[in-house]
Amino acid sequence: MTAPFPTPYAARPCTLVVCRGCCCGNASKHPGTDHQRQLDRLSAAAADSGGRLALRTTECLGPCDQANIVVVQPSAEGRRKGGRAVWIGFATDDGSTDDILAWVASGGPGETEPPASLALQIVSPRRATPLRRRR
Ligand code: FES
Repeated sequence: MTAPFPTPYAARPCTLVVCRGCCCGNASKHPGTDHQRQLDRLSAAAADSGGRLALRTTECLGPCDQANIVVVQPSAEGRRKGGRAVWIGFATDDGSTDDILAWVASGGPGETEPPASLALQIVSPRRATPLRRRR
């Protein structure tokens, strides 16, 4: 069987940071999405990657109106080649999950370009808003 991820790989793997805060993964706010299935698929891919893909969940990352948010962090090699974290928004269907998995299987940020359909879902991380502005 052919490994779904290229080898060799740098020590630090490509990492998916899956938001599961107040809105992302919330079935009452996004009832048409099987959020657990999405997390299970991403988790299974990480488990089957032989250490080439890692996954973690996080609390709210900020852009709730673009849920579900998945941040794709480059591997050490991808970062060395100029890759930076890419924020994917509106990841609420199987197609989005397919695209994310295809991209990380081909190397992720810095190694390969995202599928064209996934590129349309790239969003900007919100900058932290100062709690209080000086006048
Ligand atoms: S819950 Fe995911 S961005 Fe807020």
